[in-house]
Amino acid sequence: VSGPDAAKEAAGRAGAACIATGMRVGLGTGSTVRHTILALGQRDLDIECVATSESTRELAESLGLRVVAPDTAGALDVAVDGADEVDPAFNLVKGGGGAHTREKVVARMAERFVVVVDGSKVVERLGDFGVPLEVLDFAPGVVRAWLEALGAESVDPREQRSDSGNLLLDARFGPILDPAGLATTLSAVPGIVEHGLFPGEMVDRVIVGAPDGSVRDLSRDPTRNTPNSM
Ligand code: 5RP
Repeated sequence: VSGPDAAKEAAGRAGAACIATGMRVGLGTGSTVRHTILALGQRDLDIECVATSESTRELAESLGLRVVAPDTAGALDVAVDGADEVDPAFNLVKGGGGAHTREKVVARMAERFVVVVDGSKVVERLGDFGVPLEVLDFAPGVVRAWLEALGAESVDPREQRSDSGNLLLDARFGPILDPAGLATTLSAVPGIVEHGLFPGEMVDRVIVGAPDGSVRDLSRDPTRNTPNSM
């Protein structure tokens, strides 16, 4: 295998190498972390897992991994997940698969958060992907109008709902100059259950896979993409 899937597989398998027996592990959602889960299924580890989606839970259980509810685990040693965009300060856009709310809870539960991506996800500035939003199905038109008043250039509903039964929307704000500021703004909008912006401080490691099967570890550049430097 070579090309995009080889890059995802390389990153995902390298993510699995961060996990050792005895750990409590958060399992993300998507085609890259899928390779992490497949690799874990091939090893004989005594681990307890928390899944960020029903599809991840089903995959993990089908491989014989032990999956428990977040409240049962209480805290996690490590969470591994993919991303849709990663900037030089490790700020992320997530939610391409509509699982960002559960993904954020699980990442916050973890002592270490490891992100696995192929090189196409590494960007100078967040924004091209848009910002996935999980929204309560109560006043979506009102929330949309608020988003437009906050500068959203477009707000597009998805057909699919989240695993929690909420609406999923994609809002586009153009290049995101201040990810932390936009995250704070979106968190304050009533009706938005969660947005897909993850602050760089949450992220401990970013593993980037290449089409030739090699991986590299990015190091965080704290001087980049802070509000004052943009
Ligand atoms: C799901 C996510 C995924 O991690 C993100 O969309 C990346 O997916 P993939 O590894 O398939 O490119 O946030 O909600």
